[in-house]
Amino acid sequence: MVRWRRFLGRMAAVLAVVTAGAVTAVAPAAAAPAGDMTPYVVGGTRAAQGEFPFMVRLSMGCGGALYSPRLVLTAAHCVGRTGANTSITATLGVVDLQSSSRIQVRSNYVYRAPGYNGNGDDWALIRLATPVTSLATLKIATSTAYDNGTFTVAGWGAAREGGAQQRYLLKATVPFVDDTTCNRYYGGDVIPSEEICAGYASGGVDTCQGDSGGPMFRPDAAGAWIQVGIVSWGNGCARPNYPGVYTQVSTFASAIQSAATSLGG
Ligand code: ARG
Repeated sequence: MVRWRRFLGRMAAVLAVVTAGAVTAVAPAAAAPAGDMTPYVVGGTRAAQGEFPFMVRLSMGCGGALYSPRLVLTAAHCVGRTGANTSITATLGVVDLQSSSRIQVRSNYVYRAPGYNGNGDDWALIRLATPVTSLATLKIATSTAYDNGTFTVAGWGAAREGGAQQRYLLKATVPFVDDTTCNRYYGGDVIPSEEICAGYASGGVDTCQGDSGGPMFRPDAAGAWIQVGIVSWGNGCARPNYPGVYTQVSTFASAIQSAATSLGG
């Protein structure tokens, strides 16, 4: 039952990615509660230019974060198999995707988490053909120390369940939800060691289709942004008692770091 819901969520994501503008037609939005009518990420506001310099929009309809000048960290479900890949365009450096000051760079390689089969392991690295050195990168959490508290999410995905992709970057904050609570909502479908949940029990604020692959982050002890999650899945968007489910970055930090090294940094 819950697995089916999860499958639907994932299929909606894949269809959204493949068909871009046709998200409205394919998303299972029929049962969207009234809370989903709040505009933005869902329930968010516009990000300021330069506020999150590491945010990346990917041409297949996903988000990402600049991990290093040549590498974008995203979700495995946003990419195909590991190997040479020049088909992805990354847009960086702007909140407005139409801005004439945007930076656009092609991919030259995709590294998808080994063992990814649609269940957990939802991370990937995309190597850019040209390094982007003008933008700050986002460091990743290497321990569980920051896997709690209030998180920031951002993306150009739908501002409501079944809604259109956004031209301007939206942001929102969502509170941590512990694994036990999250799994009570999701009937045991969350993988505690690989996934981290965030959202309000009342719903209303969440990531949504097209935000996948983008980062969930918070301030570290020094006040610098640190990435704790990757947008992965959820049942609809911003529904009460269905928090967003994110790849737990700390779990995969050493695998991500090794992969990054193998890709040349
Ligand atoms: N899988 C979706 C995507 O491809 C992200 C879904 C996030 N859903 C949520 N309720 N937080 O864009």
